[in-house]
Amino acid sequence: MTGRDEAAKRSGPFSLEAPIKTILTGDRPTGPLHLGHYVGSLKNRVQLQHQYRTFVLVADMQALTDNADNPAKVRQNVSEVALDYLAVGLDPKVSTFCVQSMLPELAELTMYYLNLVTVARLQRNPTVKEEFRRLQRAPADADEAQLRELEAQVPAGFLCYPVSQAADITAFKAHLVPVGEDQKPMIEQTVELVRSFNRIYGEVLVEPEALIPQIARLPGTDGQSKMGKSLGNAIYLSDPADVVAKKVRGMFTDPKHLRVEDPGRVEGNPVFTYLDAFDPDTAQVQALKEHYQRGGLGDTVVKRRLAEVLEAFLGPIRKRREEYARDPAEVMRLLKDGTDRARQVTASTLSAVRKAMHLDYWP
Ligand code: TRP
Repeated sequence: MTGRDEAAKRSGPFSLEAPIKTILTGDRPTGPLHLGHYVGSLKNRVQLQHQYRTFVLVADMQALTDNADNPAKVRQNVSEVALDYLAVGLDPKVSTFCVQSMLPELAELTMYYLNLVTVARLQRNPTVKEEFRRLQRAPADADEAQLRELEAQVPAGFLCYPVSQAADITAFKAHLVPVGEDQKPMIEQTVELVRSFNRIYGEVLVEPEALIPQIARLPGTDGQSKMGKSLGNAIYLSDPADVVAKKVRGMFTDPKHLRVEDPGRVEGNPVFTYLDAFDPDTAQVQALKEHYQRGGLGDTVVKRRLAEVLEAFLGPIRKRREEYARDPAEVMRLLKDGTDRARQVTASTLSAVRKAMHLDYWP
């Protein structure tokens, strides 16, 4: 019996009657995962894996959409991301880990979906738009015409990655997609595709729903709204303790809080946002906030508390990661087993899709 079945049994007859819903999420293997990934999505997944049939996809094809010239990096990071999953407590006996490119049905489904979306719609996707600008290093003061020019230079696969993500989600018939706030437009676009598909070919696909946590986005250590690999403002789940301590010491705080006696701002102060996200002692966080706002509490003291809190959180994660990292063959085996199981689901969906599309020429 899997852990999921046990969990279903424990929660009583009610959940036995209701069919178990499916979750699909994933990450691009372009680097190790960071605290932003944890707060935005991993934490939810770890909790939800016991209530839902959970698939976690290492999206290597999606990583290639902006790393086509760097396949070795993507390959290397497939293992890193799998290690991060294991380290935070995604349990391969409960959740199914799988590798996107080893599920050819996902590429096939992407191709069918591309006929159901316009180029203009793809160009309007806010997440893609934001990433375009980063990818093309668009100057902050670029006008619309310049931006359009730059965007046209991006690989077509990158423009289309929301469609491939819709294929990921729907091939698993996922009901729920736990993601960070930045991924919301992807789910919206998936819902549109599902509706078009079902209208034209018949009710085959499931409309998914995004599951976004309360703190949907962790700011970077520099106070920028988003923590990101390419922004150089991330604390990684795999960072050694001294690196974390150093990053915390260098964190952005309230720039107007110059002397200890000065009253400081907690809104938009990432040190407090991180405490809200990671300090289990909420009463103490509240007291620190009040003291900081009143004046008389120095940044160093708050940062020291944050470093402690993060170490209490990351220490066990780091340890588990190191244990799994000793046996890379075992990690690959977990990915392969999961992918084999996932393939049964994606193949079954594709067979229904092909039938609905009149593409079932012979059995
Ligand atoms: N786009 C997601 C990210 O950048 C990764 C991803 C790929 C994904 N396929 C998915 C997320 C399917 C949720 C569901 O992290």
